[in-house]
Amino acid sequence: MCNCRVCGNSLEKFLDLGKMPLANGFLYEKDFSNEYFYNLAVGFCNDCSLVQLIEQPEPEKMFNENYPFFTSSSKFMVEHFRNMALDVISVYGSDPRIVVEIGSNDGSMLKVFKERGCEEIGIEPSKSAYTKALSNGIFTLNEFFNKETARVLWQEVGSADIIVSANVICHIADINSVFEGVSELLDEDGIFVFEEPYIGSILNKVSYDQIYDEHVFYFSATSVKKIAEKFGMSLFMVRKQNVHGGSLRYYICKDSRPTDFSLVSEKDFGINKFFEFADLVEKSKYTFKSLLEYLKDKGNSIVGYAATSKSTTILNYCGIDNSYIDCIYDTTKEKWNKFTPGTHIPVISYDRFKNDSPEYSVLFAWNHRNEILNKEKDYKGKFILPHPTARIL
Ligand code: TYD
Ligand code: ZN
Repeated sequence: MCNCRVCGNSLEKFLDLGKMPLANGFLYEKDFSNEYFYNLAVGFCNDCSLVQLIEQPEPEKMFNENYPFFTSSSKFMVEHFRNMALDVISVYGSDPRIVVEIGSNDGSMLKVFKERGCEEIGIEPSKSAYTKALSNGIFTLNEFFNKETARVLWQEVGSADIIVSANVICHIADINSVFEGVSELLDEDGIFVFEEPYIGSILNKVSYDQIYDEHVFYFSATSVKKIAEKFGMSLFMVRKQNVHGGSLRYYICKDSRPTDFSLVSEKDFGINKFFEFADLVEKSKYTFKSLLEYLKDKGNSIVGYAATSKSTTILNYCGIDNSYIDCIYDTTKEKWNKFTPGTHIPVISYDRFKNDSPEYSVLFAWNHRNEILNKEKDYKGKFILPHPTARIL
């Protein structure tokens, strides 16, 4: 059990998804008997309003199954980060000198800053992404970002005009160290801009499958404002982004800047709202299981489309194994011939999807819905969406 990782208060639990394996713990049959489980539950801090995991798996159990992911493999994300870099430069207001990215992956976003004449510094703990970034000519350090790395960087290159990060900070349990590092490293006139999946979108879509071991925090404007203030900075703007099922981009500075929060309203994001969400999650489970049972009783074949991290939460929470879902098709070869964590559904190569042409496919990569529906225009079967309430598309 954990207290609030920002202020140390006890967390109020509002949702318990039960016994859960690691979201990316895809495994071979020989390892079924040694599978690791923890309890997946989320709580709310009444002080800083931050939603977070109540318990995290033991660190040595995590990150042992890292599927190499490079930003540059998704054209859509490369374009998104190009726009993010240009947006950040325009909000900064003049030509930045030094730009630091926390979790810079293969350097896809820093490349844009570099093209604009900035000195780029990537901080990337994953060895494979770091190596790729170097080969792309992007200056990168193979480190975790925390207050210590921030201090060393500040001593060596001075303060940063811009610090950016995308889909990284929600993974770092020691968030105080990240914010302390940012506040030391950031220039007095600098801006710190980061984006993460938005708890407001999770609430709206009832996309409880975005909750899993690797996502420690589920941010809101209200919580980020309080965290920034704790470290002598201020949140001056937020903007919604249409990625990862709905993200929010946070703009933080040290000096004062005109504020703009017009696009989000979080007035009702108190504990009651989160209890309501927990009820909707339970309803979603009921509708999803009932739909699969109904289709199965009628003799249909049901498969999964994409063995995402999110699918681990849905399958385990709903108790769905291969008596419901025959297999899951996925494009990541490291997952092929393995089984889904906890529920042991076979994962097979996406190449077989067209030929097999299953009658129903659960769209576990629902966040890429438009791209997938476009790609599968000729698919004769039907897609199933697991939430808010399960339905056939
Ligand atoms: P994604 O929703 O990006 O992430 P997460 O695992 O964090 O929930 O999905 C990535 C996984 O989905 C990866 O294993 C590849 C697979 N996938 C497909 O098989 N086909 C697709 O069209 C897409 C978009 C993803
Ligand atoms: Zn707190």
